[in-house]
Amino acid sequence: MSSGLPLSRTLSPPAGQGSDHSPSPSASGETEGPVHGSARSAAQGQAPAWEGEGQRPFVVAIDGPAASGKGTLARRLAERFGLAHLDTGALYRATARLVLDENGDPANPVTAETAARRVDPQLRADPRLRGDTVASAASVVAAIPEVRRALLGLQRGFAVHPPSPARGAVLDGRDIGTVVCPAADVKLFITASTEARAARRVKELREQGAAAIYENVLQDLNERDARDSRRRAAPLMAAHDAHIIDTTTLDADVVFERACDFVVRALKEKEWQQ
Ligand code: C5P
Repeated sequence: MSSGLPLSRTLSPPAGQGSDHSPSPSASGETEGPVHGSARSAAQGQAPAWEGEGQRPFVVAIDGPAASGKGTLARRLAERFGLAHLDTGALYRATARLVLDENGDPANPVTAETAARRVDPQLRADPRLRGDTVASAASVVAAIPEVRRALLGLQRGFAVHPPSPARGAVLDGRDIGTVVCPAADVKLFITASTEARAARRVKELREQGAAAIYENVLQDLNERDARDSRRRAAPLMAAHDAHIIDTTTLDADVVFERACDFVVRALKEKEWQQ
């Protein structure tokens, strides 16, 4: 049975099915020295002014397990640096939602791939994608290679051609630094202990007025982590050149400022390469 939610694709397929990002070095350590041009304006909280048309977009890849805080971080970074943001988990959630709405089996590769090909990226903000049932089903469809292939072009298209006027993009997910944008300018891997992530998720749910039992949330996270990490297709892992930030004992603002340092440094490097 369909809910009638219009999740079918309405956008034309993205241009650029492959990543055309040339490799760029990833920075580590703290920001030093003067900050020039776009890096300076970004550091001052203004949208960076990229000079020159035709420059390849600036891409920030953020990966990490469920409830690690990567989504909030991605949104804040996008806002600070004037970049477009794509929550790639929402594409897997939308796929799962389509399957569930039609009483399909999320583990069925044909059903799941068909749904993935109908996903409309415009509707990734749909509140119905946020429930834990959808999250679990999303991690089931996400283990199917055909589903991942069906959603890959869309994600790369966003990175290569971010919606105007953004000259770059922040993508968050599980395989952005490893598979979707392996040549991203900045790669971050945001993690935290399962207990810390479960506690944060419980707090978030209770703030939304939902009843949440810590043990159940912890179990859900453990199951989803296990599925995401052990699957053969693009498992959750940090890229070899990712900056790993363990947020277990860190305040969200500290994480944000640390991430900003990496972005500012990469922006400076990009300017110096021109
Ligand atoms: O990030 P979020 O929790 O919304 O993702 C839902 C599920 O989608 C994840 O548990 C994971 O299985 C899948 N996913 C993925 N690759 C991504 C983003 C999400 O496999 N890049």
